[in-house]
Amino acid sequence: MHATDDHHAARRGAAIIEDAFLSYIKEFQRFTLQARLRFEARDWLGALQDSADRLDVYNTLARHTVEHLHDLLDEHTRDKDAWRAMKSAYLDRVNDRTDSELAETFFNSITRRIFVTVGVDSDLEFIAAGAVPPDPLEAAGDVAEDFSCAAGVRDAVLRLLRRHEMSIGYADLSGDAARVAEVIERDCGRGTVDGIQAVRSLFFRNKGAYLVGRVRARTRDYPLAIALLNQTGRVSVDAVLLDEDDVSVVFSFTRSYFFVDATRPAAIVSFLRTIMPRKPVGEIYTALGHNKHGKTVFYRALLQHIATTDDQFDIAPGARGMVMLVFALPSFDAVFKIIRDRFAYPKTTTREDVMGRYQLVFKHDRAGRLVDAQEFEHLRFDRRRFSERLLRELEAEASSTVTVTDDSVVLKHVYTERKMTPLDLYLQNASGAEARAAVLDYGEALRDLAATNIFPGDLLLKNFGVTRHGRLIFYDYDELCTLDECNFRKIPPPRNEEDEMSSEPWYYVAPNDVFPEEFLPFLGLPDTLGQVFLASHAELLTPEFWWRMQEQQRAGIVADLLPYPQARRIARD
Ligand SMILES: Nc1ncnc2c1ncn2[C@@H]1O[C@H](COP(=O)(O)OP(=O)(O)O)[C@@H](O)[C@H]1O
Ligand SMILES: [Mg+2]
Repeated sequence: MHATDDHHAARRGAAIIEDAFLSYIKEFQRFTLQARLRFEARDWLGALQDSADRLDVYNTLARHTVEHLHDLLDEHTRDKDAWRAMKSAYLDRVNDRTDSELAETFFNSITRRIFVTVGVDSDLEFIAAGAVPPDPLEAAGDVAEDFSCAAGVRDAVLRLLRRHEMSIGYADLSGDAARVAEVIERDCGRGTVDGIQAVRSLFFRNKGAYLVGRVRARTRDYPLAIALLNQTGRVSVDAVLLDEDDVSVVFSFTRSYFFVDATRPAAIVSFLRTIMPRKPVGEIYTALGHNKHGKTVFYRALLQHIATTDDQFDIAPGARGMVMLVFALPSFDAVFKIIRDRFAYPKTTTREDVMGRYQLVFKHDRAGRLVDAQEFEHLRFDRRRFSERLLRELEAEASSTVTVTDDSVVLKHVYTERKMTPLDLYLQNASGAEARAAVLDYGEALRDLAATNIFPGDLLLKNFGVTRHGRLIFYDYDELCTLDECNFRKIPPPRNEEDEMSSEPWYYVAPNDVFPEEFLPFLGLPDTLGQVFLASHAELLTPEFWWRMQEQQRAGIVADLLPYPQARRIARD
């Protein structure tokens, strides 16, 4: 190839990648607009379907782009010089965009696929953050609007709600405005509220739509989320959240991603960080539906963390997995999960099946109860950062996925998740009140999962984690299934004395049979906690409960799972 040909091919290649990126953004925006229509039409099944479908867009476009580039570049597809030129031509095209960081991640996705890059390669990838994260004040100016409270809080709330009025209107606009204003004044101080600042676009997810921003009071700002529902064909305010923890739980890593206009993602992220300063930036991108860029940010944060600390990856505290090998850096808030080469008896599942289960969770409504696992390939770390016992375990148990050399550890495939405290460990150190609260929330978690068509499979305490907000989250996915995959059964009555004395079941048990009456003894809770569970959740131990949940699924009923406490709902007369 001639130098000029090279030049031409690089420009063509860059244009192809940019086109694909633009298609991605267009599709993303189409889904965002559609979320509003689903909300207005109360089309909840459609909204769930959109959540799953949107997750395919990126990979589909990336795959087609790779094919297209193969055709264009032919034997030069893996020519690094061509790619260096392409990278710079691409940067010229996307540099001025307000979402240039997403554009860069998209480019990286393409080159990683073509080169099967191990670690990172700065010739082929954008390795530093694209757009400089805007200063929070500037970000607020870009993505939020101010509503002055000079004429009263009620007046400001009224204007805010009007500004976001949907085609179906409010059921009781002035009543809602009064109730929201009352909560704001009560919690932030009467006569002290100067204004409200809210992101210009609504956040849609499942059955909810959220106004997100902050209340400016004399002494400090308060995070603000106003939850809107459409229960009757008209919009009503369901809850007002003014607390960092409450807002943070709405944006949790255990939920599906929002549908929100993100023409200026960096500015929205920067704004959201000011109201949820503890939430990692990567998780915020992910919550906005930009999960690929969320991974990029997570990975950069990890590398930076590693560069500034010196502790070692070690086997994660708690019970060892039979399927997953789990490790973590004590100083970093994530765990790394690798599928073992072999699974101990009695596990009969396969690697493909385990990955299928993780994929199911990725696309399913996580209901605030299933941890989001991000999948990574070809990560490279410094071997010195791994403890000897972890290295031994990786080599013995995961040699098909992990390559250890003199100076590096390369992970061919790994899931990362937020680190939590395994419930079995948590209960060992919990106060009586904390333990009771955890056991009650364990039952609530099973209910929330059942209401979203999920049976977790392995209900043991060690498979649930406790978050910093004290919420119970499930993370062991290899036996997780949808309710229709399970056959919930009553234990048949013993036929005779011999049956009664038998420690083994005397009846045939098929692989998908589930006996809810056995759950409680199986958990091995101390007696007092068992009683706490029974007092609120005895029905979970009956097949009838699960049959009812299956019935709901068959009827296409989408559960109301509110991501905030009952106490934050506004009182109605
Ligand atoms: N997100 C997490 N935070 C903290 N510890 C975890 C997390 N995920 C897993 N673990 C720990 O790793 C163990 C094994 O992980 P798990 O997902 O249950 O795999 P397995 O299917 O092999 O049991 C758990 O029992 C727990 O101690
Ligand atoms: Mg487990």
